[in-house]
Amino acid sequence: MNNFTYYNPTKIEFGKEKENKIGEYIKQSGIKKILLVYGAGSIKRTGLYKKIIISLEKNDIEFEELSGVVSNPLLSKVNEGIQLAKDNDIEAVLGVGGGSVVDSAKAIAVGSMYDGDVWDFFINKAQIKEALSVFTVMTLSATASEMNGNAVIINDDTKQKYSIASVLINPKVSVINPELMATVSKEYLAYSAVDVISHCIEVYFTASTHPHFNSRIVESIVKTVMETTEILLENPNDYDARAEFAWAAIQGLNGLTPAGTEGGSFPNHMIEHSLSALYNVAHGAGLSVVIPAWMKWYKEQNVAQFKRFAKEIFNSEDENVAIEKLEQWFAKIGAPTTLKEVNIPRNGIEDLAINANELANVWGLGELYSKETIVKILEKA
Ligand code: NZQ
Ligand code: ZN
Repeated sequence: MNNFTYYNPTKIEFGKEKENKIGEYIKQSGIKKILLVYGAGSIKRTGLYKKIIISLEKNDIEFEELSGVVSNPLLSKVNEGIQLAKDNDIEAVLGVGGGSVVDSAKAIAVGSMYDGDVWDFFINKAQIKEALSVFTVMTLSATASEMNGNAVIINDDTKQKYSIASVLINPKVSVINPELMATVSKEYLAYSAVDVISHCIEVYFTASTHPHFNSRIVESIVKTVMETTEILLENPNDYDARAEFAWAAIQGLNGLTPAGTEGGSFPNHMIEHSLSALYNVAHGAGLSVVIPAWMKWYKEQNVAQFKRFAKEIFNSEDENVAIEKLEQWFAKIGAPTTLKEVNIPRNGIEDLAINANELANVWGLGELYSKETIVKILEKA
């Protein structure tokens, strides 16, 4: 096991009815005025919006609102939020929704404390030194944005889907009530499952060291997600399955699984971000297209770990069988596995590869993932 620093300052408030206490949690931090950020309206349809407002008012928290964050969140909306925050002396940002809403809240928290263009942080032109506090009430479990310092945003002008990372935007408190997730569509449940699996297996396959403990956590998360997804597709109201899914999703990208490993990277995410940026493909749907293709291309580079995955997840001695079974499972739960299914034509591959290679250079992966290599991977999809 390698040396590492593990620091995760997010407090998780997990369980039924905890959303009714969000005002109290914010007040405990001495904050009096917030920006409430949410999406296209699911929180109004489910009645959650009302509960949040009641809790804020009960605790004398003043608020401004920013609605209309879309899945694959846009920089233009983030900039709208930054202006609102600056004009209204906002002290913290509360995101109520899924990863897109929470990532937007985080980017607003950073941009509100900065005089320049918030995109500077995404292209490494500036370092994050301060940010407003972030709070969340999650309505969809997938990204683990509720317990990490990442935010992923699309620049509407340049069509780049890039990210920032800083412990300063780890949420102070995240409320996870699995009941709030019962209304997530089957489609997004499937995409969420793929996303969580991807967060775990990317480092599992690409790292150069593989402590058994870390591998076992990953295998546990993958098995838990596969089992609970199947239960939830049948019965969306199964609380225990929803709760296990949510907790597993959080562990998938909160720093736990890579701690002590070395050399891990996120090439599937890197390539997927181009599908999202250029074709507005949902994140998990893009991943289910990229992952099987990438696995077929990459498997020789870490045969032992692919064999281990085959044995532990699919009880097979053959890594090729495991890749096939994973692809079949994605299809079974309703996630696409070909570019065709997400309406990307073969002649779109070149531009995707150019876009992904630019991100590869930002992430320091440009040597392994040249444009030509990314074309080769995508042709398998
Ligand atoms: O906008 P509303 O009306 O809320 O609808 C949303 C949205 O259409 C809906 N939804 C959410 N909760 C619901 C619900 N519908 C009914 N009932 C509920 N309880 O679901 C749709 C998708 O929401 P979104 O937030 O986009 O999904 P997700 O949580 O998967 O977030 C995806 C975004 O996060 C980024 C992705 O790239 C993508 O942009 N990621 C963020 C990461 C991070 N911060 O660490 C890491 C990930 O790898 C990922 O890249
Ligand atoms: Zn992801």
